[in-house]
Amino acid sequence: MKISVCGKGGSGKSTIVALLAERLAAAGKEVLIIDSDESNYGLHRHLGMENPEEFTGFFGGKEEVLNNMMISNFTHQFFEGQWRIGDIPEDYYTEKHGIKLMVSGKIHQANEGCACAMGTVMKQFVSNLRLEENQIAILDMEAGIEHFGRGLDDEVDLILMVCDPSYESVQLAAKIRELGEKLQKPVYYVLNKTDETSREVLTQAIQNSQRILAVLPAEPELTAAALLGRKLVWESSVMDRAAEKICGMQA
Ligand SMILES: Nc1ncnc2c1ncn2[C@@H]1O[C@H](COP(=O)(O)OP(=O)(O)OP(=O)(O)O)[C@@H](O)[C@H]1O
Ligand SMILES: [Mg+2]
Repeated sequence: MKISVCGKGGSGKSTIVALLAERLAAAGKEVLIIDSDESNYGLHRHLGMENPEEFTGFFGGKEEVLNNMMISNFTHQFFEGQWRIGDIPEDYYTEKHGIKLMVSGKIHQANEGCACAMGTVMKQFVSNLRLEENQIAILDMEAGIEHFGRGLDDEVDLILMVCDPSYESVQLAAKIRELGEKLQKPVYYVLNKTDETSREVLTQAIQNSQRILAVLPAEPELTAAALLGRKLVWESSVMDRAAEKICGMQA
């Protein structure tokens, strides 16, 4: 199963990716996390892992990828046939406790251009990736919905939106529901950093409480660990149940 984790900036996407991946791995799944956010640098720290080489580098780097895209009038295929997780070259993933981490590529310099090289390689990679029954790929997306425009969500089986207590999340929940319907992909939700009032407002906005995978309060220990770049630890059955539901969907 391939899952994209999306939502507005700062809603808690990377936090949920890290917590969920750990619980899925604990449940015996082989988890591949794809850091598909070109602008943030801390996901590996949430996981207590090292970063691998950026995957765009495998294809010669961002400039070379863009060049190949342009000379082929944007038809260049970076992959020959299907890939399995075991085909990812050694330098381009790191691994710990049943979790593998890949990084699409980051913006490093001013004026270096847009991130469509990384987006194109990742779309093709996810499209060509064949998973076995006990494997789950989780994409940590950049904020907002540009990834829908790039077509990355066409390639996943489930869209997981993280909603924080904000009017933007209320609006985005409706937009992502609509986009999911168009793509015929199930959209599930995590309500994050919530209290009683925000849970009510967000649940109404989602319109289908069956699709709420988990509800988290604002947990100071998560904020503190993220501030210091430490591995995220949250002892709660909430994420176990979320992981169980995902395993159930896969069965
Ligand atoms: N349940 C929570 N309780 C407390 N703090 C949280 C919770 N979830 C996320 N945070 C904090 O909110 C901030 C944003 O979280 P995170 O980086 O996971 O969001 P994001 O959606 O991935 O952000 P971006 O859009 O920048 O990628 C971080 O400081 C994180 O520690
Ligand atoms: Mg993030």
